[in-house]
Amino acid sequence: MKPVEINDLPTSVWLDINTGVFEPCVEISRRKVSDLAMMFADQEAVQQLIAQGDPVVYDIRYHPFQTSTSDMALGVSTIYPGKVGDEYHMTKGHFHVRMDQPEIYFCVRGTGFLLMESKEGDFQVAEWRPGTITHIPPQYAHRVVNTGPEPLIWVASYHLAAGHDYEPIIARGFAKIVVEKDGQPVFLPNPRRPNSS
Ligand SMILES: [Fe+2]
Repeated sequence: MKPVEINDLPTSVWLDINTGVFEPCVEISRRKVSDLAMMFADQEAVQQLIAQGDPVVYDIRYHPFQTSTSDMALGVSTIYPGKVGDEYHMTKGHFHVRMDQPEIYFCVRGTGFLLMESKEGDFQVAEWRPGTITHIPPQYAHRVVNTGPEPLIWVASYHLAAGHDYEPIIARGFAKIVVEKDGQPVFLPNPRRPNSS
């Protein structure tokens, strides 16, 4: 990652809502099936897809707005349509390291769901379409799932200091997984949590 530049002047970026590309963009992170292997329920399907070329699940484009007194950041993510077994493409999901930090997600293209779960186990779902804006309170892990036929693109606005904590998600996932059944998305208990319902 390039060093973050302190800039106390107003700054604008330009986003193409059809592609998720924005300029200037400081960093692009690409997540393939192999990067998310442990997140999907169907491990046979994971290995098959990796052997077949390891498709891209999502891209994140990132821009920090660091000033001498504050540090907001912008992320624009694009989940490409697809499934691993019956489970829809999704993000890894994370808690914030700083548990006092919320985040705003603004869906600009596509359809899907935002899954949110607190450490206490409160599980919430927001259904997304273009224009849906969700405030994610502090202390809720968040994961986006693309259940539609086109790329799902959203803008994330957060405090740079929030930080990403992936470990609890790697260890336990979310309460529900989202799979296709008869052409429709359905929520099933996470098989990695034997006691969930
Ligand atoms: Fe976040």
